[in-house]
This record gives sequence, structure tokens and C-alpha cells, in this order.
Amino acid sequence: MAYISVKVRTKDLKPGQILAEDVRDTHGRVLVFQGAVLTPNLIVGLRIREYIDSVKIFIPVEEAPEGLVKPEQAGISIPGGIQPKLGRFFRNARKMHEIKPETIKELSEDVKPIIDEIFETRPAIMDSLQLISSHDDHTHDHSWMVMLLSLSILRMAELKNVFHPGKQDKVDIALGALLHDVGKTKVPLEILNKPGKLDPDEWKIMKKHPDYGYAMVRSTENLMPVAKAIVAHHHRFIDGTGYSPEGLPVLEKLPTLVRIVTIADIYEAIVSDRPYHVAALPYHAIKIIDQGAGTKFDERFIGCLREMVAPFPTGSFLFFRKGVIGKVEAVDALEKELPFIEIIASLTKETEDLVGREFRLGESLNDMPKEEDIVLGAYSPVNLATKIKSAMGIGSGSDVLFEPGTEFALTSLPEWERIMKEHFDFLFESESEERVR
Ligand SMILES: [Fe+2]
Ligand SMILES: [Fe+2]
Repeated sequence: MAYISVKVRTKDLKPGQILAEDVRDTHGRVLVFQGAVLTPNLIVGLRIREYIDSVKIFIPVEEAPEGLVKPEQAGISIPGGIQPKLGRFFRNARKMHEIKPETIKELSEDVKPIIDEIFETRPAIMDSLQLISSHDDHTHDHSWMVMLLSLSILRMAELKNVFHPGKQDKVDIALGALLHDVGKTKVPLEILNKPGKLDPDEWKIMKKHPDYGYAMVRSTENLMPVAKAIVAHHHRFIDGTGYSPEGLPVLEKLPTLVRIVTIADIYEAIVSDRPYHVAALPYHAIKIIDQGAGTKFDERFIGCLREMVAPFPTGSFLFFRKGVIGKVEAVDALEKELPFIEIIASLTKETEDLVGREFRLGESLNDMPKEEDIVLGAYSPVNLATKIKSAMGIGSGSDVLFEPGTEFALTSLPEWERIMKEHFDFLFESESEERVR
């Protein structure tokens, strides 16, 4: 079928459409690669970047100009106007350190259509939550995503009969999630955006953001106590560990809405790119959160999150033990743990014959990688390379990635050759250096 590329405004994008060109951020970094299939969450990710007004998508010539729209796949539609407003709100908070009751009133009205949308439908599978923040201050995008995630977990909890939220609960969790990190507007940007690890003094300041935030909202009218509790206690875990504002009594029982935001918050942080870390796939994020199931996090809501997310988003890349690199080609909504994968490259001699083969995770084919062989995952080859590089840098890391004595050799599908050569060069460089020595 012949395709043409057309420019479409981000507000008119529909899930299922295919990107005809890479979408880049203001620094020229690729946010989403050409060929990516748009998912509801990718679309949200594009829409919240105010500087991305339109993108190019492929449509079959026959179908032009109607495009590939499948109405039943419609995702969350974001009412216009709230995003820029939220941006202004965070910029003002950075200057003013206070939140006016009128602002809360306005935000409560703004979130209502979003709540209606999420609660009228079954939460869409969040295929990708990859968000590379374009702002100096990530708090804005992060807060937005934590709100959408928290509401979606709440909706799933309702569907699963885990928790029955009232009307006010929905507004409270939305506002609490939007404001949870508002105290970060008092943390210097040099600390917020520091690429490396924070030193102890910097950590001390960072850990004060719930204090700062609570001070900003504690006497704000129109904001319910549980929304204020989200701001104050979102770094407190169910076993009592974590931190809250100094001087506030430790809650005997962490409120349900706080428990939900806590999970949404950490999940969003793990699956997004930050100056100090490369986004992880949902699969790894859930694994990390699972380690705190029942101690740090309420298991019931981890279960809700697990049902909502696709562990291996379409278009993501997996590195399997022995040096196999696969690209997730498709995810079946009913069995989203078992994606269809194409092996696009091999980094070792041993697995070069596998390049070009397609398989489904969970199929028990002798020579194909299995779930237990997944070591790392990322949203782009360059990020995968970064992760492999840093894993190899950490002492015994390379033993986990490759068996000792592995013979490196790069084999890729023709369309990936250039990108693979560019980013995985380091493996072969160090080898040739070895030889010289
Ligand atoms: Fe926080
Ligand atoms: Fe947060």
C-alpha cells in the first residue's frame, strides 16, 4: 500500500497513526522515532509539549485525507487551555510561593472533564508513558502525568471493586496529584536538574519539598484536607518509612488517596527521562515497585497499575542476555505481557543468526530469547546503548550482560545498521584496544 505523509495538529492526532518523521524536543533530541505507532499516551506526551504544534503522520494514499482514524481507539482527549494554564500556574508558584483560592477553584473546574472522560471509559492501556520533559522544570509535566495516572488507578480500583471513590475523592486526588510537588518550585533549579547524584546537603533541600508544598497549601481555602495530605505525605510509605514535613504528626494510617498518588508518582519518575536517569520500560518500573509491595506500597493499587500498563510498549527496545536486541513490534491488548518482537541486531557472534527473526515472548522456542533473558529495555537504541554502557561500567555488570570471553560482532538488519553502528561502537572500540594492548 502506498502512503503519503501529512501534517496533523497534535490536538487532532488519533491512536494508531504512524509518525512519518522523528519528533524532536527543543534541544534536537528525538522524543519519538519515525515509524512509531501513536498510542493515547504518546499523544498526551506530544500534546503537553506546547512547542509541538503539529507532526507528520503516514496515511495510505487511498484513505487520504481521512487518515487512519479508528474511532473505537480514541484515547483521553485533553480539553484545550488547561495545559498552558498549568504552565502559567507553575511559573507563578515559582515566583509567588502561594496558591490563591481562586486558582484552586479554577483547577477544580478544569479537571472535571478529564475526570469524566477517565471514569466514563475503561482506562486505556497505557502503552507508553515516555515523557522527556522539555521544560527546565520537570515538575509541570510530571505533575500532569501523575494526575492522569492517579485518576486512572482510581478508576481501575473502582472497576476491580477494590475501592469505591465518591465524586469528591476524584476531584481531591486530581488536585492533590497536580499539586503534590508544588514545593519543588522552592527548590533551586540547579538542584532539580542536576545530572549526577545529589550530595547530602542538596538532598536535605530536595527532601524539604513536601514541607515547602504543605506550607503553600495548608491554609488554602477550597482545597480539601486529603488533597493537602497528598502534598504533605506523598513520600511517606505504608510501613511508616519515608518522609513528610517536619513537625507534622506521622499518620497512623496513610489515606487511600495518598497511597495511590505515591504509586503513580514513583512509577512516573521511573518511566520518564530525567537529567539524572534514562527512562525505564514499564516492565522494569513495575518490577521495582513490586519490591515494595505490602511494605512501601499498597498491593491493591499496584495490581490496578499492572492492569493498566503495557510492560513492553510498541516501538521499545529490549536487550536480551547474550547480546540480542529486539524491537517490540506489536502488543496484543489481551496478552500485553507477551509482545511480538523482531530481532533487529546482535552484538555477539553467538547470536548473529537470530537477526531478522520474529517471535512472541513466552513462546517456548529453543533458540529464541525468553522473558528471563531480558536484561535491559529502553525507548530508543541510543538509550539502550547508554544503559548497556553504564551497566558495563559498574564492576560485574558486564558478566550479567555478556558471558566472559564473549566474541563481540555487530550484525543488524539493513535499516538499523547505521544507528546501531553509531551507538554500539563502544563495544568494539574497547575490544580493539584490548587487542592492541
Ligand atoms: Fe515529591
Ligand atoms: Fe512527584
